[in-house]
Amino acid sequence: MAEVAAQVPLRAICELLGVPEQDRQRVLELTNEAMLGEGDGDGGGAGRATRIAQSEILLYYTRLAAQRRAAPGDDVISLLVGGGLTEEEVLLNCYNLIIGGDETARLAMAGGVLALATYGEQWARLRADPELDGTAVEEILRWTTPAAHVGRIATRDAELAGRRIAAGDVLALWTASANRDEAVFDEPDRFDVGRRPNRHLTFGYGPHFCLGAQLARAESAALLAELRASVRAIEVTGPVTWLPTNFINGIGSLPVALT
Ligand code: HEM
Repeated sequence: MAEVAAQVPLRAICELLGVPEQDRQRVLELTNEAMLGEGDGDGGGAGRATRIAQSEILLYYTRLAAQRRAAPGDDVISLLVGGGLTEEEVLLNCYNLIIGGDETARLAMAGGVLALATYGEQWARLRADPELDGTAVEEILRWTTPAAHVGRIATRDAELAGRRIAAGDVLALWTASANRDEAVFDEPDRFDVGRRPNRHLTFGYGPHFCLGAQLARAESAALLAELRASVRAIEVTGPVTWLPTNFINGIGSLPVALT
């Protein structure tokens, strides 16, 4: 988690945003805190540490955006400040990119490694056949479903699977469940690196479909290619811990030995 999975997505997104090398570790810590911070105990809203981390990320980008306004480069922040957006829109876009692009892809990668360690026959299959890389990436994305649910507000009355939904209802759409829907997937509880078709909803659906889907796929494919090139066996060597949240689905620590 710490040495590989945490580094790849963070470096990719920081590279795109032009976040200087010396700030990246701090940005990583802040995004972790902003995503995972404990609630404040009264049953609603984020806790103090989470809110502080969120504010610090926005402050950080306020400074970075001011620098890019004065001296534009070829990074995404320079494009955003030069793109006719308000200051607030620039900051919220930066925030969205860093929050969206870091944690989720990291969890997919780590969950993928755990799945390959658990299902050794799938790892052997993948090692023997590089052609499977594409389907393996999609299966890892389905299997891990890092964004466990998305929220929506119903715009009109509707009925779904016998349940009445009223306009204005707040809904949690459980992607984690949809991705194991036995009406859609053949043997949904089987991890199959050659699965086809694989119409998972890991990146959402509709107008808010993940902006970084291709980047996340490229990152995961790069990791798989590197594992295939350098690693024969993947072994879990200690307890795997899971993050204490139902917003994102994922591993907190994953001690592995790669042979
Ligand atoms: C495996 C990795 C990833 C997963 C599972 C994931 C998941 C998602 C999901 C489910 C949504 C839709 C949210 C909704 O409908 O409410 C979304 C949106 C978004 N994602 Fe990702 N994402 C991943 C990687 C990335 C990366 C690498 C980036 C940044 C480059 C990114 C940036 C965004 C942004 C900006 C949105 C908002 C799009 C919009 O509202 O129009 N994501 N992502």
